[in-house]
This record gives sequence, structure tokens and C-alpha cells, in this order.
Amino acid sequence: MTMHHLQIGNGQTIPAAIFDDPREFGQFTAERIRDLIAGATRDVAICFATGATPLPVYERLVEMHAAGGVSFERVNAFLLDEYIGLPEGHEQSFATFMRRHLFDHVGLPAARFHAPNGRGYNPVEESRRYRETIDAVGGLDLTLLGIGPNGHIAFNEPGSRADEHVRLVALAPKTREANARFFGDLDQVPKHAITIGIADILASRRLILMATGAGKAEILERALRGPITPDVPASFLQTHPGELTLVADRAAAARLIA
Ligand code: GLP
Repeated sequence: MTMHHLQIGNGQTIPAAIFDDPREFGQFTAERIRDLIAGATRDVAICFATGATPLPVYERLVEMHAAGGVSFERVNAFLLDEYIGLPEGHEQSFATFMRRHLFDHVGLPAARFHAPNGRGYNPVEESRRYRETIDAVGGLDLTLLGIGPNGHIAFNEPGSRADEHVRLVALAPKTREANARFFGDLDQVPKHAITIGIADILASRRLILMATGAGKAEILERALRGPITPDVPASFLQTHPGELTLVADRAAAARLIA
């Protein structure tokens, strides 16, 4: 692993941890989460990302928990987003994903798992309820983010603004295509989702942006060094006033680090 002070847009620098090995990538991020929980004097609110990128992180957290190294008893766990219309327990629902890969294995109390309900009749009302749930715990202490091939964060697709909160969104064709591999065919991929907004993400006290693989190199460079624009929603991360850390493998960071 190498630690860098990465120059991003806005003349700022952020810490960037760059890895050769996915296991180390997972270990580093899991340790940041463990340390945040261990150092907290009150409940900790963490928003978790789905997708392939964070899986090594969740594997390490499960191992750490099994070894007695981390407790989720004082964690309020949130989801970035959820598809609309999948039946309860559907394999590809993000709630199912997070239970399967993390929450079922680390003793997270059921009442501390917070997710948008994608099966309700009123997604606008559900979005309001979810935002209030985040507010009720005093906001997010840490948000883990992946990045979509089109620069989306959570399901904030190109065109999203920095002042938008939790809301109902239509998924971009490129996002549906990227996620079709999980559903078998494109027709099965939901067309809508509830996502936390860029404003909610920017209000999170700490952010960890994770990216792996050469396929993310170009969009990662545009996100962190390109113009701040709704065309690349992740570019709004450059304006985050708190702690933003990049955790990436060498392939994804290739255009940022020599
Ligand atoms: C998904 C999620 C995002 C995630 C992104 C990248 O659709 N809504 O939160 O960051 O796509 O996924 P992956 O890590 O599999 O590349």
C-alpha cells in the first residue's frame, strides 16, 4: 500500500490509499470503520455501499467481528439506495445484498438497520421518511461510496444537483446495462430507485470513495480532477468540507498517481 496526498480540483489535497492487493484494500477500509466505531463515545451512523467494489471490505469486517475485533451494537447502518419494485428478499435488492454480505454476520441489531423501502406505494413519502431517519440519528458519520461507470454516486445519475436530498430517481440506461449481469437480463433490472442525494452525501462527516479496476480509471480522474458538474455527479465530492479519503487499487488510480 502507498499513501498519497492527492491533488484534486479546487486546489485541495486528500489522502489516497493505493493498493496492489484487494485483500489489503479491504483490510485498510475495514480498519478505518473499526477505528471509527471503537473511538466513538455515542452511536455511530454509517452508510454502506452495495456493488462489487466494497466486497473485500465487508469480508474483512466479518472476519474481524468473528475474532472479536469489532462490534456493531452501537452502529446505525444505512443504505445508500434501493431499487423500486423488487419483492421482499429478492436476491438483488440492496437490503438483501447488505444482509448477506455483512449485517447477518456482524451482530447488527435489526432495529439499527435502516433502508429505503422500495416496495411502498408512495416513494416520495418514503424518501421523506428515510431522510428523517438519517436526521433523527444526527446525520451520517461515515459514508462509503463506490463510483458508477458514468460517474454516479449512490444512484445520483448524471444531471443530479448538489442540493438534492433523498428522492425517487430513474436509472440511466448505462447503469441498467451495467447491472444487468446481476439480473440475468436487462428487462429484469428495475427502472427506478430511491437514493440518498448528493446533499445528504456531502453532509456526511467523513467519506470514503472506493474504486477498483482499470474500467474506473477515467471516470475517477474526471470525478476528482475534472470540472465540478452534474454531468459527473461524483465531481461534487471535490466540494466536501469534511474528510474525504480515496481508497483505490493501482489500476483505478492509474490516471491520478504516477
Ligand atoms: C451501483 C450502486 C452504487 C455503486 C455502483 C458501482 O449501481 N448504486 O452505489 O457504487 O453501482 O458498483 P460496482 O462497485 O459494482 O462497480
